[in-house]
Amino acid sequence: MLRLDKFLCEMKVGTRSQVKKELKQGFVSVNGTVVVKPEHKVDEKADTIIYKGKELHYKKYAYYMLNKPAGVVSATRDNTCTTVNDLLKDTGYEDLFPVGRLDKDTEGLLLMTNDGELAHRLLSPHKHVAKVYDVELKECLSEEAVRRLEAGVDIGEEHPTLPAKTERLPGNHILLTITEGKFHQVKRMMKAVGNETVSLRRTAMGSLKLDERLAPGEYRELSEEETNALRGGSGQTVTQHKEGGLG
Ligand code: URA
Repeated sequence: MLRLDKFLCEMKVGTRSQVKKELKQGFVSVNGTVVVKPEHKVDEKADTIIYKGKELHYKKYAYYMLNKPAGVVSATRDNTCTTVNDLLKDTGYEDLFPVGRLDKDTEGLLLMTNDGELAHRLLSPHKHVAKVYDVELKECLSEEAVRRLEAGVDIGEEHPTLPAKTERLPGNHILLTITEGKFHQVKRMMKAVGNETVSLRRTAMGSLKLDERLAPGEYRELSEEETNALRGGSGQTVTQHKEGGLG
C-alpha cells in the first residue's frame, strides 16, 4: 500500500505540491471514486487509478542515466557538497541512489535507480561488468604503458588489476575499459604506469552508453531497450572500442 500522492509522484504526474493541486481539482479517481486526499492509501498493483481519464500503471523501479558533472559527489546526501541526488530531485522518486561511485572530479555516465538487485549485480566484483572511461593524460601513453595496462598493473592491492583495453584518441586522450571498480582505480592505474590523469569521463557501463546529447548535469530515463539490456545481460558487452569489446 502506498500514499496516493506518492503514487502520483512516482507516476510522474508532478511534484508533491503539483499532485496535491491535481487531487484538489478532482482529477484523480480510485476504483471509480474521486479521491482528493493525498494521504489516501492505494494498492498500487490492484487498484484502478485514473488521472484525467487515463489509467496509470504502476512502475516500481526507475532507471535514469545522469551525465554527472565535475564538482558533484556520488552520494544521496551530503552536508556540504551538491550530490547526484540533488540533481535528480524532479523525478518523483525519492529512493533513487547512484550505482557505484565516480570521484567528485569525474564526469560522465552514472546510473541512478531504486532497483537494488540490478545495482548489486552491476557492482558485483564477480560479474566483471565493463566500464569505459575517456581518460585525458598528462603525457602521451607509451607503448610500454599500453602493454602493462593490458596485462594488468600493480596498484597496491593484493592482486594486479585485471587486463584492461586501451585505445588512443586524439590529443593525450585514451579510451580505457576496465572490468573492476576499485577505489580511484583509473587514476591509480595511470600512476602505476608513470603517467597522470588530467580528467576522467565515464562513457559506458555494461551495455549502457552515455547519451552524448546530455550536457553535464542533465539526465534522462532509460528506454525500455536500455533497461532490458542491463537487466538481461551480464552487462559485459562494450562496443565503444574500434575493434569491439573485451568479449
Ligand atoms: N577511476 C577513478 O580513478 N575515478 C573514478 O571516478 C572512476 C574510476
